[in-house]
Amino acid sequence: MASTPQRLRLQTASGFDLQRFLQTRTAAVNAALDRFLPPETARPATIHKAMRYSLFAGGKRIRPALCLAAAAACGGREADAMPLACAIECIHTYSLVHDDLPAMDNDDFRRGKPTNHKVFGEGIAILAGDALLTQAFEIAARCRGWPRYPHRTIFRELAHAAGSLQLIAGQVEDLESEGRAISLDDLRYIHERKTSALLCCAVRLGGMSANCTPAQLRALTNFGYHVGLAFQVIDDILDVTQTTEQLGKTAGKDARSNKATYPAIVGLEKSRQIAAELTQKAFAALKPFKGRAVALAALAEFLLRRES
Ligand code: IPE
Ligand code: IPE
Ligand code: MG
Ligand code: MG
Ligand code: MG
Repeated sequence: MASTPQRLRLQTASGFDLQRFLQTRTAAVNAALDRFLPPETARPATIHKAMRYSLFAGGKRIRPALCLAAAAACGGREADAMPLACAIECIHTYSLVHDDLPAMDNDDFRRGKPTNHKVFGEGIAILAGDALLTQAFEIAARCRGWPRYPHRTIFRELAHAAGSLQLIAGQVEDLESEGRAISLDDLRYIHERKTSALLCCAVRLGGMSANCTPAQLRALTNFGYHVGLAFQVIDDILDVTQTTEQLGKTAGKDARSNKATYPAIVGLEKSRQIAAELTQKAFAALKPFKGRAVALAALAEFLLRRES
């Protein structure tokens, strides 16, 4: 596997300016979220302050970027995908606010700032999460719907990814696995659901906003699934290898909480190898796009190499 990073470089050596892509899309997503959310002053101000506090705390906006890049890969307009990109980021942020609660991972820092419950108290943090999840569907309703993907398909897609068979399923088994020795298959089950499902949903919704063909949707699903799994393996690795300052969240927390993670089960080296293999599979899934998926490929490479 020593040759993998080089192969990855070759496959994405497209001259694509990912830094610029991420900067411009983050700015566009932030501006859209600001428009879509009630103002901080809307009564009751506490809840809108709390929602905005976590939403604008400085997340990487990876899921919206994937959604917009998938739309572009299918020949769509990013503006059509924007409500869906923003809806996904609201669901993601809600999941982080609740993930950090004392009853879950009990974390004090997120996105470089004190966690929502540390600032607003547990009651408001729970409600801010609830409100962000609900807000996501109100924002998604702004999309226009497409011949192959009418509104009901879009809503079912979002609800399924966030629901008790996907994101919540992963979070439940993540909690239930604390302090227990679980198999690699069970860990994969958790990662598929708590993380990969929403990343995959982001990519699929981007494709749907371009009225993509069934074959394109299959390719995007394959890409999103593998990028999503790699994303959580890397998250587990970074928890071991990075500092709290670099991560913007408390480092070393997984080991202290006896979490089931890839490094805990197979070690750091093998975890890195698995993340690289998953990323290779994601690259392979982009073949049908014949070079029109440069942003998706560059994102997959960046996510493998990221340090925060
Ligand atoms: C963190 O996600 C939670 C996981 C699913 C691993 P991100 O690393 O995308 O967090 P932000 O959005 O940049 O804060
Ligand atoms: C988070 O997984 C997954 C969701 C929030 C759905 P983690 O618990 O590993 O995420 P971090 O490390 O707190 O960001
Ligand atoms: Mg967690
Ligand atoms: Mg956590
Ligand atoms: Mg983690």
